[in-house]
Amino acid sequence: MASSLRQEPAASPAWFASLAILGALYVAPFVFRLFAHLALYLRRPKDLRRRYGAWAVVTGPTSGIGRSVALELARRGLNLVLLDLNAANLLEIAETIRSRHGVKTKTVLFDLSSVATPQGDEAMARLREAVEGLDVGVLVNNAGVARPGARYLHEADVEAWVRMIKVNLWAVTEVTAAVLPGMVERSRGAVVNMGSASSEAIPSFPLYTMYAATKRYVAQFSRSLYVEYRSKGIDVQCQAPFYVATRMVSRLSETSRLALLLFAPAPDAYARAAVRWIGHGPPLCAPNVSHQLLWCLAAVLPVPVHDWLRLRHNLRHRDLFHGPSSARAVPKIK
Ligand SMILES: NC(=O)c1ccc[n+]([C@@H]2O[C@H](COP(=O)([O-])OP(=O)(O)OC[C@H]3O[C@@H](n4cnc5c(N)ncnc54)[C@H](OP(=O)(O)O)[C@@H]3O)[C@@H](O)[C@H]2O)c1
Ligand SMILES: *[C@@H]1O[C@H](CO)[C@@H](O)[C@H](O)[C@H]1NC(C)=O
Repeated sequence: MASSLRQEPAASPAWFASLAILGALYVAPFVFRLFAHLALYLRRPKDLRRRYGAWAVVTGPTSGIGRSVALELARRGLNLVLLDLNAANLLEIAETIRSRHGVKTKTVLFDLSSVATPQGDEAMARLREAVEGLDVGVLVNNAGVARPGARYLHEADVEAWVRMIKVNLWAVTEVTAAVLPGMVERSRGAVVNMGSASSEAIPSFPLYTMYAATKRYVAQFSRSLYVEYRSKGIDVQCQAPFYVATRMVSRLSETSRLALLLFAPAPDAYARAAVRWIGHGPPLCAPNVSHQLLWCLAAVLPVPVHDWLRLRHNLRHRDLFHGPSSARAVPKIK
């Protein structure tokens, strides 16, 4: 007893030092990532047109991130092939892009949830036709759906999940396969797939399980394609943002006002960072610097704490989206 008391003062500084070293080693990669991120802003932006080609294809360019990314690409001198499911919205964005930036545009009417049906095959053929002979340098697979929002798996219609799977991952795969051959032929190109931090930066995203799972597919799809096509001059990247202030998250402002204010950039601000990141490795990135910071913070929080916080938070989304009656349908988890 007495001898162990005598040893304690000598032992504890060593104990603390090794803990501090361990902690520093643990945190170092994230701090490094943050600095690498900031360093990018000191470099001149890439000339995307010269590096990859004169045209870009953007899916879902009529609202939110896609709209801002399409406008930013046009500002940087790229012509655009715009793909979306609403004809009137497509015409509007095409006109806005042409009048603001004087680049060329083409539109492809395509409901991406129709992939792998005769109607989808027909639309895919129109996409192939539209990009045929064009020097397409950049493909941004942006279109995505989060509907039905926060729900237990058994609560939503199977059709809603199938639609999500079709738009978020199946269409991404088919559109990429349609645009890649031209890039391979020209030995240059960049593919940007919209993933989400919900599947990459945090261990779980309960009640948005299907959404996060489709985004995990997008991330893995991108990582492997990156390796597959790097030697062919094609840069594949998955951008995995936290919240961006689009209509997809507009209803969350009631539950997370402060977080959204601090960490959710407006789509235009997000798009500037997103376009700047095109062609800069690694294949998985969070272009906005506050998202990068969140990512680092998330990495140091223990998994059970994440899980608990997320479930609590997303249950509040569920109440918000689907009303208190839906909250009664399944006992609340404390
Ligand atoms: N906002 C965020 O916080 C956030 C965070 C992480 C990742 N993301 C991802 O970023 C991407 C863009 O999100 P956002 O927030 O900008 O969403 P948004 O405002 O809802 O825009 C989605 C775009 O995709 C189009 N789209 C939806 N379903 C389609 C379909 N079946 N066929 C063709 N086009 C379709 C929409 O067209 P219509 O306008 O005609 O419906 C719209 O142009 C998504 O992949 C999303 O998962 C967003
Ligand atoms: C990042 O997001 C913040 C808001 O969270 C925004 O104020 C800022 O302009 C964005 N900046 C960059 C460089 O991505």
